[in-house]
Amino acid sequence: MKDRVVLAYSGGLDTSVGIGWIADATGAEVIAVAVDVGQGGEDLEVIRRRALDCGAVEAYVADARDEFAEEYCMPALKANALYMDAYPLVSALSRPLIVKHLVRAARQFGASTVAHGCTGKGNDQVRFEVGITSIGPDLKCIAPIRDLALTRDKAIDYATRHKLPIETTKHNPFSIDQNVWGRAVETGYLEDIWNGPTKDVYTYTDDPTFPPVEDEVVITFHAGIPVALDGVPVTPLQAIQEMNRRAGAQGVGRIDIVEDRLVGIKSREIYEAPGAMALIAAHRELENVTVEREQARFKKRVGARWTELVYDGMWFSPLKRSLDAFIEDTQQYVSGEIRLVLHGGRATVTGRRSESSLYDFNLATYDTGDTFDQSQARGFIEIFGLTAKLAAARDARFGRGVVISGPDLLPAEGSGA
Ligand code: ARG
Repeated sequence: MKDRVVLAYSGGLDTSVGIGWIADATGAEVIAVAVDVGQGGEDLEVIRRRALDCGAVEAYVADARDEFAEEYCMPALKANALYMDAYPLVSALSRPLIVKHLVRAARQFGASTVAHGCTGKGNDQVRFEVGITSIGPDLKCIAPIRDLALTRDKAIDYATRHKLPIETTKHNPFSIDQNVWGRAVETGYLEDIWNGPTKDVYTYTDDPTFPPVEDEVVITFHAGIPVALDGVPVTPLQAIQEMNRRAGAQGVGRIDIVEDRLVGIKSREIYEAPGAMALIAAHRELENVTVEREQARFKKRVGARWTELVYDGMWFSPLKRSLDAFIEDTQQYVSGEIRLVLHGGRATVTGRRSESSLYDFNLATYDTGDTFDQSQARGFIEIFGLTAKLAAARDARFGRGVVISGPDLLPAEGSGA
């Protein structure tokens, strides 16, 4: 039997040409696998046929939208995952899911090798290959675009010579990756980091400069997951899709950053993630109300580390799995409702309520009915500040006390002094 290679297939020029290249270079049969992570665009059946027309012996399409929302986007929401405090891990989240489907196909079709169409400069090659070796350690990985140094010109030439049914004339200046959690746009004139993004960069969001009237939404969470919008039950996928629509109409979730890639390059990327950014804003505030202070402070650090691991392609790593367990444990009381106003590029929390709230009105109030015993505060502060007081006294003995300089205070005009 001929050797078989499973290729992560997008339907675009590079991976379409990749089918023939892999077959030519390895003599293997190519099985194309396309995964629906809510990227929209072309019909997946059309993409499947194209793979066959380009020479794949089998082509398989996986509708993984619910799986992606439930098992990848929801953990990211629970972690409030924002790489470099800004990027909600859009592409980084989809790669491990695609990897799972590739490895499954490799098993099903008896393939020895998995192939992807990434270049050698990005994070995605790392995410694919580390992912594949993590869950299919016996599988080999190849990357034709990177390893055979295949350029766009060579791809067009190959497609024309072999009469492949693929568009070679339309050239989008941008490199785009999108799924239901968001959209990433890079290259072209965006590589000059002084250039502002033009309107044609955006498709998930409308211009926030001239927004429609504000949109108020109540999001119900159960254990960290959105379960209803304005009282209407939703699945995680529906929650993201609906929030993409509503927050997107208000221009929420446009991000423009220079980020640190794992391979050491700093790169400029534009993201649009209206649903993700609105949901994270709401989830974060519900955590403020329901998660105990020490757990919350520590969780912030755990979430940041979790985010770096996922960005760096370590989805299937032991540390990521351990941090998942911690994060999951923090979510048991993150249930309740958040009222969010979407308007002019912002998602603003205006109300919160929860059965498992730690907010105690009677402790917080400055009105009558206060149950907080203020006389206890004095002793608390005395002991809490003791360590700093002792150290300051020692500094003074050694002549290293805090120097307070500046002119003497003058009486304010009109104070009568
Ligand atoms: N820089 C982002 C990441 O590494 C997005 C990369 C997605 N690819 C693209 N063609 N924009 O997660």
